[in-house]
Amino acid sequence: APGDPCILVIFGASGDLTKRLLVPSLYNLACDGLLPEQFAVVGIAKDGLTTEAFRSRMAADLRTFNTRKEFDPRAWDWLESRLHYTPGDFGDEEAYGRLKELVSRLDAERGTGGNLLFYMATLPSLFGLISEKLNGAGFKGFPGWQRMIVEKPFGSDLESARALNRELLAHWREDQIFRIDHYLGKETVQNILAFRFANELFEPLWNRRHIDHIQLTVSEAVGVEGRGGYYDRAGVLRDMIQNHMLQMLAYVCMEPPASFSADDIRDEKAKLLRAVRRYSPEVALSNAVRGQYGAGTRADGAACPAYRSEKEVDPGSNTETFAALRLFIDNWRWENVPIYLRSGKALWKRGTEVAVQFKRAPEVLFRGPTMRRMPSNRLIFHIQPDQGIESNFQAKVPGPVMQLQSVNMRFSYGESFRAERATGYEVMIYGCMTGDATLFSRTDLVEAAWQVAQPILDAWSGRPARDFPNYDAGSWGPVAANDLLERDGRRWYEVI
Ligand code: BG6
Repeated sequence: APGDPCILVIFGASGDLTKRLLVPSLYNLACDGLLPEQFAVVGIAKDGLTTEAFRSRMAADLRTFNTRKEFDPRAWDWLESRLHYTPGDFGDEEAYGRLKELVSRLDAERGTGGNLLFYMATLPSLFGLISEKLNGAGFKGFPGWQRMIVEKPFGSDLESARALNRELLAHWREDQIFRIDHYLGKETVQNILAFRFANELFEPLWNRRHIDHIQLTVSEAVGVEGRGGYYDRAGVLRDMIQNHMLQMLAYVCMEPPASFSADDIRDEKAKLLRAVRRYSPEVALSNAVRGQYGAGTRADGAACPAYRSEKEVDPGSNTETFAALRLFIDNWRWENVPIYLRSGKALWKRGTEVAVQFKRAPEVLFRGPTMRRMPSNRLIFHIQPDQGIESNFQAKVPGPVMQLQSVNMRFSYGESFRAERATGYEVMIYGCMTGDATLFSRTDLVEAAWQVAQPILDAWSGRPARDFPNYDAGSWGPVAANDLLERDGRRWYEVI
């Protein structure tokens, strides 16, 4: 069913996010009949565009960023006629006056019932200002619901995250704030919950008695791609691990929720993140490895410059472009099961995977001089680019003697479902329109994740990384990341 009637107001509508993701997602939703008939979009940004110019710009950009094979002109015309634009500076009260006039007019024309969805496609430092000005201009007087979508980063450490949360909560109720973590929009990430809780097969084994350890890898082949200015202040721990990877970890390890409602799921995620062991900075140092890439050759043969020579990056930068962590979840289910996380830029291959390594079955029956050491079961969630789930088991090799070999069972999204390619934002925009906050983060979740990351950030920021750069672009990261597992008698699994 289509989402609730509403007007979507995009702050920062002339920016990258709008053309790359928001408009293509709205278009995909329109193609699938998931936008309400009573709907309009109002873009606002500094650029002095007219509505006409905004429409033709979005139409042109859609040709580049469209995710579907076939173009549906009816869906696009439908959406295009609902796109509007008003120029304005986010600090200027008059701009909000004009915005309100336009929104009121469209609300009456389109019959959207005063439901307003504000999308903050801007820097987080503007969220407070915009909220305050919206208030001042009397937007609260509209009769319907009001919600706001915010994009990361949600702070750059625990303290700034708390400050940002306070700022948001000064103007909005928690249930009005939708914090986007685009990993939660990925089908394969959402499927982790379906896999765990809609099947009887694995969940009884999902604990310290049967699982040896878990590995999460988000490997990127690209470097910082012109985002050096932002990235040099962030680093991979803030950019990928504190948010996307800890959210995935929560899905893999949380307890079954009381129901599938947004808050029941988020309660369990928060509980899980609160149980992740908080290291002292000293202990953090022996459980975390950081890396930065030097020049190298990528898998496709292209030369990749060293991180420190990227645009807008400090030539003596201490920022980590790779990190590997060894975490523990101090709860009943996961006591002493190591959770290894790694992520980095300019690596050999792009691939996001979660590998759940089971303990070895008793070997009593299958040993002897002719037997190879028996491997143990592993379950792998392929998140991207390959999408699916795979597990191995031991089978008898044909022949007169008992020999074992590991074989695979594999589910592939592409083979089982015929779904159109999407941006991943569709499901989130739709969720927001219907008031379903399942795929969004929450104040306590954001802060719990920062509490995991903070001691590591503190340990690193106090100590310059003298060995940077310590891995070549196009490699698998620093050698020390391997040592982190080898000293536990384990190794990283290659991503497919
Ligand atoms: C973003 C990070 O949040 O996620 C980027 O800021 C990163 O640095 C991106 O490249 C990865 O997203 P995806 O969907 O390509 O895995």
